[in-house]
Amino acid sequence: MTARLLVTGAAGYVGRRVVQLAASAGYTHMVRTHHRTIPEAQLAGTPNAVDLCDAAQVAACFEAVRPQVVIHAACSNRSEAAIVPSTENISRAAAAAGARLVHISSDTVHDGERAPYDEDAPTGPCNSYGRAKVEAEQAVLSLCPAAVIVRTSLVFGIDPLDHQTRWVVNDARSGKLVRLFTDESRSPTWVDTLAHALLELGNIDYSGVLNVASPISLKRWDFGMLMFDLLGISPGPNVQRALLADSGMERARDLTLNVSRAQSLLQTPLLTPHQAVQKIRAGS
Ligand SMILES: NC(=O)c1ccc[n+]([C@@H]2O[C@H](COP(=O)([O-])OP(=O)(O)OC[C@H]3O[C@@H](n4cnc5c(N)ncnc54)[C@H](OP(=O)(O)O)[C@@H]3O)[C@@H](O)[C@H]2O)c1
Repeated sequence: MTARLLVTGAAGYVGRRVVQLAASAGYTHMVRTHHRTIPEAQLAGTPNAVDLCDAAQVAACFEAVRPQVVIHAACSNRSEAAIVPSTENISRAAAAAGARLVHISSDTVHDGERAPYDEDAPTGPCNSYGRAKVEAEQAVLSLCPAAVIVRTSLVFGIDPLDHQTRWVVNDARSGKLVRLFTDESRSPTWVDTLAHALLELGNIDYSGVLNVASPISLKRWDFGMLMFDLLGISPGPNVQRALLADSGMERARDLTLNVSRAQSLLQTPLLTPHQAVQKIRAGS
């Protein structure tokens, strides 16, 4: 594939894996952006330091790279203030360049009270991250309407461990209290599944929202136990079942996504967490 690919957020969890898998998806010309965190030197592609909140820097990057496909994997709940401005800048630049934009959004655009959610379900975020992701989706739809907006959920992997699992594992090992909710459901999505789907979507003529996640959801507790088992950890008494309803936290209860549209559209199989764990164990 000769399309020039631009991946944002190459030092981030999803962006790094997209960059690693781009060559196997056939992309041979790739530029990857980073911000303050410098990705490992051996990562594929040409590095480009860009503050995506700076419109002039984004325009200069597009001018230099002339991308045909852009996968916007930068700016997450760990950089919430950057979500909307970076997406506005990327969307404007992609539209002006006539580039195919693949934007990543989140199940947290929903309220958690009306699952399962298909692509057309009304949004209703219950926290500031979800509100920023809704605003970013609206920016993509208005500034770059040909783009695809990929809603995903709880991205996990072990090489390296995703942010959330690393935090749970570290606390579990150090004896800190770990409370895993038995009344909160998400659709944990293997980072390889997501990365393959994002790369495939770079070459598919589909516009608008698409749910790309595990076809089944799990309770936080059950997902935690699956990850402990995969990592060979026997949780001690400091790992406890908890109820979201008792926690007073502002979190959505059930964010199960209906992924039937993506299952018909994509060749990339959307694996359940158990199928992904089997693959991880098999080393593939
Ligand atoms: N991880 C999940 O469970 C999950 C679930 C649903 C949706 N998503 C979405 O998936 C996407 C990727 O998430 P992730 O977990 O891979 O995020 P991440 O690991 O936190 O990485 C985000 C990257 O964005 C970069 N960034 C932040 N501000 C920037 C700026 N102003 N200019 C340029 N780069 C900037 C960060 O660079 P620095 O390190 O230098 O700040 C970081 O490398 C996000 O859109 C997120 O909302 C993630």
